[in-house]
Amino acid sequence: MNKSIYIILSLSFVTSCTMKTGNEKIKIIEGKNIITDSGMVVSAHPQSSRIGALILQKGGNAVDAAVATGFALAVCYPEAGNIGGGGFMLIRTNDGKSVVIDYREKAPGNASRDMYLDKSGNVSDGMSTDTYLASGVPGSVAGMITAHSKYGKLPFKEVIQPAIDLAEKGFAVTKKQADDLNVNKLSFIERNTFRPAFVKDSLWKDGDTLVQNDLAETLKRIRDYGREGFYSGRTAGLLIGAMKKGNGIVSEQDLKEYKAVLRLPLTADYKGYHIITVPPPSSGGVTLIQLLKMTEPYPLSHWGFLSVQAIHLITEAERRAFADRSQYLGDPDFIKIPVDQLLSTNYLSERMRTFDEKKASSSQEIRPGFPEGYTSEQTTHYSVVDAQGNAVSTTTTLNNTFGNSIVVDSAGFLLNNEMDDFSVKPGVPNMYGLVGGEANSVKPGKRMLSSMTPAILEKDGKLLLVLGTPGGSTIPTTVFQVIINVLDYNMNIEQAVDAGRFHHQWLPDWISYEKNAIDSLTLSELEDMGHILKERASIGSINAILILPGGKKAGGADKRGNNSSCGY
Ligand code: DON
Repeated sequence: MNKSIYIILSLSFVTSCTMKTGNEKIKIIEGKNIITDSGMVVSAHPQSSRIGALILQKGGNAVDAAVATGFALAVCYPEAGNIGGGGFMLIRTNDGKSVVIDYREKAPGNASRDMYLDKSGNVSDGMSTDTYLASGVPGSVAGMITAHSKYGKLPFKEVIQPAIDLAEKGFAVTKKQADDLNVNKLSFIERNTFRPAFVKDSLWKDGDTLVQNDLAETLKRIRDYGREGFYSGRTAGLLIGAMKKGNGIVSEQDLKEYKAVLRLPLTADYKGYHIITVPPPSSGGVTLIQLLKMTEPYPLSHWGFLSVQAIHLITEAERRAFADRSQYLGDPDFIKIPVDQLLSTNYLSERMRTFDEKKASSSQEIRPGFPEGYTSEQTTHYSVVDAQGNAVSTTTTLNNTFGNSIVVDSAGFLLNNEMDDFSVKPGVPNMYGLVGGEANSVKPGKRMLSSMTPAILEKDGKLLLVLGTPGGSTIPTTVFQVIINVLDYNMNIEQAVDAGRFHHQWLPDWISYEKNAIDSLTLSELEDMGHILKERASIGSINAILILPGGKKAGGADKRGNNSSCGY
């Protein structure tokens, strides 16, 4: 692949990652789109991909590498990598078994249904996004420790150490990160009573070093005491102290009681391929499978990539899937979700009976207040495959870029603002324009509905594709598009990941599309059919691994970010 760079990492780099590999030189390949023989990690930052790949090379399995990558992302990609947030890790071992580790945040025990409404019953501006009350009980540490203790091979200390070193020694921020940090400077200053590592007197520039000593100390406590190093003791004390000062409600009890949950993946077949993905409390898996099943009967490849017919069909499927989401999906530990029915072929073909090949249908009404051009892509996904064919597909988030921008004083980690993923008032759109109702209302201890869609595909029982993306409500539609790009449009992984994208989510009733993705003739034909179209900056940021015939791994690190593939 011409875009890849081939580097031989010298001992100095190895030492900086505390890999004790003796004097031999380590050959690691890294780049946007590379092909490797053995293991591969694709994540949002070159540092975290490298750390994961080195763990693989050291004899760690895919879960060891995923956990190392996850902790490294909390350091080198604080926009979304985290220990103060949550996520979903989908693991498929090489014997074909798969499991989901759900470490989604939970509403604190003192949360209540109308906690974000003012006296007149209106949503208080910014309360579910910008304050201590925006944070759900963090799940990431419990999730990664659960994954490692059940499926990891190397000692936990070895897996987390590279992240500690990275926090202590610092790393060079990318141009994009410097911009993100500068854009958020004011929020960091206004929402914290001290000066977090993310604030500098001058503006950040490409290549500046970000050192995070408090975070390193927190990571050391996790290294030394496992989950207790986060959910009790000094770290918990710092978090609860900050909550009390900031009028937050996450309590000691909430931290003590937080548990990651093992769930059965959702699975489905599509055109001879087997899809494995996540169940509620993410809506992502249900939506992805609904989209695949609703579009399966139609000749997508014959119609062509981003053709009028394909965009129209996919839009109409998306409209229906997102309408179902708003009504039926939430935390399965609190509500009964008719998942089997929502995914049944009969139900889905019935849903598509009203599909008119010539005309757009209309969502009930267009809701006001949808933030135009919402640009945050700051969840993050990483994909890992080891030399033995074990695979991990993880999506994790703080919700917004840098969560609520609140750093726990002296503990160095950012808090999530995931409570905004609840439906804080029926029918009122959240920051992604998503509407919901009772199924996703706030309740103590309940997990807020997610759109995260880590996925794994098999062909004839063999691993084929590992993928996922950030993007809020656009996550399942982005994963869907990349899957059909590979399966229906025969693209290679680089083309499939980088190709233009569009999105519809029932409400608001319009198709958003990436600049230059759709040509003007197609746009005007879609408008003639009754669709409303709006251009936006970019959609999603996929990190994928495709297994090639013969077993080599092809990395697909989205051109839209600093994403990087690394392996050997
Ligand atoms: O769980 C969810 O669906 C959201 N909190 C994800 C947020 C996200 O993807 C942010 N990036 N655009």
